[in-house]
Amino acid sequence: MKLIVSAALLVIMSVGLLISCSNKAEEPSLEPLQMSEISGNAIWDRITVESRYKNYTEWPKDSGLQPGQSPHGVWHRVFANRTLLEALPAADSTAPEGSLIVKENFGSSKTLGSITVMAKVKGYDPENGDWYWAMFDPEGKVLKEGSPGGCISCHAGMRSNDFVIINPLDMAP
Ligand code: HEC
Repeated sequence: MKLIVSAALLVIMSVGLLISCSNKAEEPSLEPLQMSEISGNAIWDRITVESRYKNYTEWPKDSGLQPGQSPHGVWHRVFANRTLLEALPAADSTAPEGSLIVKENFGSSKTLGSITVMAKVKGYDPENGDWYWAMFDPEGKVLKEGSPGGCISCHAGMRSNDFVIINPLDMAP
């Protein structure tokens, strides 16, 4: 009897382990965040709990730690979720609803300083590409969120590319 119980436990544990391993590697398909629920905290939850941004694909032409420009870190790493990458190249240079771009910003000693995010939320800010902007410290504390003027005015230089600087959206990422 004891043996059967132990064998059963072992099977349950192995299945559990398998499921948790495959979850880690796979990026789940999730419903886009809606205007009614959007906030810095909702974004943090989306990129660290509901899905893990570290499992998103790093921007293919820019993967690994790359030298960044002011005011972002000296080094950066950019991840994009499947919703965005699968839509590229986009002939109209517009990211689809539900797109998430997560940028890790590192200081000169390559320690993580902050995480900046662009989340495409339908109807949130039609004048400025419907992006919800957010900035977090490495523990997830919200430092900026919503439509910070600084984020928008600088990224507006790339308004014709839906405010995305890193890559022309009408080209393969
Ligand atoms: C003074 C200009 C400037 C400001 C202000 C700025 N950014 Fe950026 N951002 C950039 C540049 C330049 C890049 C391209 C990558 C790099 O060189 O670091 C970038 C890249 C990004 C990316 C990767 C996607 C892309 O557009 O290439 C995200 C996400 C991002 N910024 C979020 C933010 C958020 C959130 C804020 C406000 C809290 C912000 N940025 C403020 C200049 C700026």
